[in-house]
Amino acid sequence: MSEMTAEPVIRILAVSGSLRAVSSNGAVVEALRMLAPDGVRVQVFRGLDSLPHFNPDLERGTATIGSVERWREALRTSDAVVICSPEYAHGVPGAMKNALDWVVGSNEFFCKPVALVNAAPHAHFAQDALAETLRTMGAALKAEASVAVRASGAGLDAAGIAADPALSTALLGALAILADRARSAAAELARQWPDGVPPS
Ligand SMILES: Cc1cc2nc3c(=O)[nH]c(=O)nc-3n(C[C@H](O)[C@H](O)[C@H](O)COP(=O)(O)O)c2cc1C
Repeated sequence: MSEMTAEPVIRILAVSGSLRAVSSNGAVVEALRMLAPDGVRVQVFRGLDSLPHFNPDLERGTATIGSVERWREALRTSDAVVICSPEYAHGVPGAMKNALDWVVGSNEFFCKPVALVNAAPHAHFAQDALAETLRTMGAALKAEASVAVRASGAGLDAAGIAADPALSTALLGALAILADRARSAAAELARQWPDGVPPS
């Protein structure tokens, strides 16, 4: 009898760039969590508003900043990341950019498969800027897993988005492709480092 080896669960971290309590981007990341298929676990990161303003002086200090460590740890322990961010004044919201600035030096995005979900397809400046920043940080941006969905202004909560046929199909497709790319990246790492990736 052949031995079955279960594939490891792919852990995807979903981050909303909006701090609003009732947020369409927040609803999309929560819908992603609800929609996660077998073999994929989506964890929503909710700590952007706890991060201090990025300051390289703080980064070089010896004191550990708990909120920053939690953000870095959440990224480190994820196989892939989805970011769903609104656009403010044709740019990335400060809280979202601040979070990215905190991990430029610590490198958590390096080679990390990332998808961008745009909840407002008419807005492209923030998406373009996010993509440029993530590429600069060495992220493995997956255009094929990055989708635009008409969720902003639709008046739907997470359950409504997850139940909407068009929205859920697009989001599930993005999750499936991202998980597939994360699996391939993990397999390639295992091939290169059969005894485990050495600590950086
Ligand atoms: C200060 C501010 C600036 C905004 N600037 C833009 C913009 O430049 N382009 C755009 O398409 N929408 C803009 N919007 C609209 C938001 O991106 C939109 O309402 C989005 O759905 C908010 O996301 P949320 O529901 O997740 O908070 C702006 C909203 C605010 C509050």
